[in-house]
This record gives sequence, C-alpha cells and structure tokens, in this order.
Amino acid sequence: MTTTNSERENQYIKKIPPTLEARGLSTKDVLQKARKVKNDEFYTRYEDVEKELNMYPKSVWKNKVVFCNCDDAVNSGDKNTSAFALYFLRNFQNLGLKKLICTHYAGNVDLFNQGPRGYIFTKDGYREGCKVFPPNYTGSFDDPLSLNILNEEADFVCTNPPFSRSVDFWKTMMESGKKFLIISNIAIVLTASYVHYFKNKKVWAGYHDVDWFLTPNRELTRASGYWFTNIRIQNRPKYKQLKILPVKEIPEKYKRYDDSKILLVDNCYIPGDFKKPFAVSTRPILNGLLEKGYILIQDKEYYPYIDGKKRFARVLVTKIE
Ligand SMILES: C[S@@+](CC[C@H](N)C(=O)[O-])C[C@H]1O[C@@H](n2cnc3c(N)ncnc32)[C@H](O)[C@@H]1O
Repeated sequence: MTTTNSERENQYIKKIPPTLEARGLSTKDVLQKARKVKNDEFYTRYEDVEKELNMYPKSVWKNKVVFCNCDDAVNSGDKNTSAFALYFLRNFQNLGLKKLICTHYAGNVDLFNQGPRGYIFTKDGYREGCKVFPPNYTGSFDDPLSLNILNEEADFVCTNPPFSRSVDFWKTMMESGKKFLIISNIAIVLTASYVHYFKNKKVWAGYHDVDWFLTPNRELTRASGYWFTNIRIQNRPKYKQLKILPVKEIPEKYKRYDDSKILLVDNCYIPGDFKKPFAVSTRPILNGLLEKGYILIQDKEYYPYIDGKKRFARVLVTKIE
C-alpha cells in the first residue's frame, strides 16, 4: 500500500486512446452509450474519489459505517482494489470511521479479478479487515444480504454504481433514507426517472465532474460523470458560474423562445427578473441553481421545439416568489 497515486495510475495506463473529438463523440455520448449497451466496465480513478471526498468536513464521516456496494473489491495489493475501498482504508483513522463494508459483485464481468463468488469485506474499528463468502450471495446491491446491510447497518453509501442498473440503484438508495455520495451520468438531471429526486430536494450535485474513468485494460476513457449526494453543501464554489442577470442583459445568442413561447437560456445565464418558467440545461442545476431561490416545476424533462424541430432536453425552472 505504499504506491503513490501517480505511480498507481502509470502502472495501469498502457496507452491513451484517440480523443473523443477525434472519434466524433461528446463526453455525454460515451456514458449514454454505456447505459444502452449495458457496459458497466468502468473503474473510478483514485484521484477522483480523493478530490471529491476531501471536500466534505471530516465530521461527516466520524463514527459512521460506510458501505461501498457496487463491486468495490478489496485485494491485498492496490491494483485489484476499488478506488473507493482504497480511499476509505487509507483514511480510516483520519476520518474516524467506525466500520467499512465493501462488496464484490459476482457478475459476468469480473473487473477486479476477484473470482465468481460474491463476498462482503468488513473492517471494523482497529481490527484487521476480513472477507466472508456467504452461500448464494451475489454481491448485488439488491441482494437480500446487501439490502440488510444497507438498511440495518450502513450510515453512508459511497460508490460508482453500474450504469445499466442506475434507475434501480437510485430508487434503492432513496428508499433506504441513508446518506450517499455516488457517481452517475450528468444527464440524469434531465432524465424523467430522476428529475423528481432533484425537484423534491432528495439529492443535489456534489462538487466535481468526473470526466475520466479507466477501462478494464487500464486505458483512460472519457465520459460525463458527476458526483451526486444528499450531504449538505455549504458555499458551493460553482455558484460563481451562475450568471444571474436581468433578461435584457443576457446576450441574444444565449436566449431564445421556443415554439411554445418558453424562454430557453444557455451558457449558465439566468434571467433574474423573469417571472415565468424558463428552460435550462444541466449545468445551472449542477452549479446549484436550485439552492438559489429557483425550483423545478415538472417531474420530467422538457423538450423544446424550435421551428417544429425537437431540441435537446432541458428542465423547466422558475423563481420562488
Ligand atoms: C462503473 S463500475 C464501478 C466499479 C467500482 N465501483 C469502481 O468505482 O471502480 C460498476 C460495477 O458494478 C458492478 N455491478 C453490475 N451490476 C451490479 C449489481 N447488481 N450490484 C452491484 N454491482 C454491480 C459491475 O460489474 C461493475 O464492476
């Protein structure tokens, strides 16, 4: 466990593939494609976990049971240990954790080379961590044993869930009522299955984008991930990126009306004096617009039409009077 982060990454990265631009793709395309083809084979990089988790006060973790429940394998070397497990093991004492529980998922793809049996790794206080292999345990987040840990033991869930099971995973998390900090596609802010969680303030954006993941060959791959959480965030640095101005001061090229006369604003411009609902894309929501006196007014995405042509999805927001 003495390898530094950059050594660890260098060890893993054989070559960097052509850029997305060179492949004619956007970052959003990659994760959306991942969802469609049920490709769950992305590793989270250690530095992304460290960068986000370091933003929260240590008191958040003190005496807490953290559960990493989406194939967050633990191995004696760093290579086959998930970045989430590694972060919590390295910082166990520093964060004052009570317990860390991580599961290995016995799926078709064995990202961490942990074998075909699901297991539960537990590190309880100062004791050495240990693995148990309960009979018929799949390691799935919705296996009865995993649900039991979630509901009866865990205080916090922290992981990068499989894109193919994202809707179910989010539902399971919300029903548990537990605290969480997870990575998902940024597009979920605009996706009907999730918009209501944001509208009802059950979840909000964390601090950072996650643009890079590792493939099973340990090559870097780009995708539009973001951290989502229900841990309180104070003084979000990205508030500064919201450009709240009177509507007439917003540059023309960033405002237009659609065929239903709904105002669409881009580039994080927000019409501060506008009394009616207007449509925004993901960024203002990720930058904390819903914490600045604005609310979502629909439980689903909004598709504008301009000159009869369907445009990309947005959400409708309005200022609270
Ligand atoms: C995006 S990868 C992330 C892996 C690891 N958590 C990380 O962050 O590096 C999602 C992982 O979830 C696993 N997985 C797929 N279905 C699962 C399920 N039902 N329950 C738990 N994990 C699952 C996949 O095999 C894959 O290893």
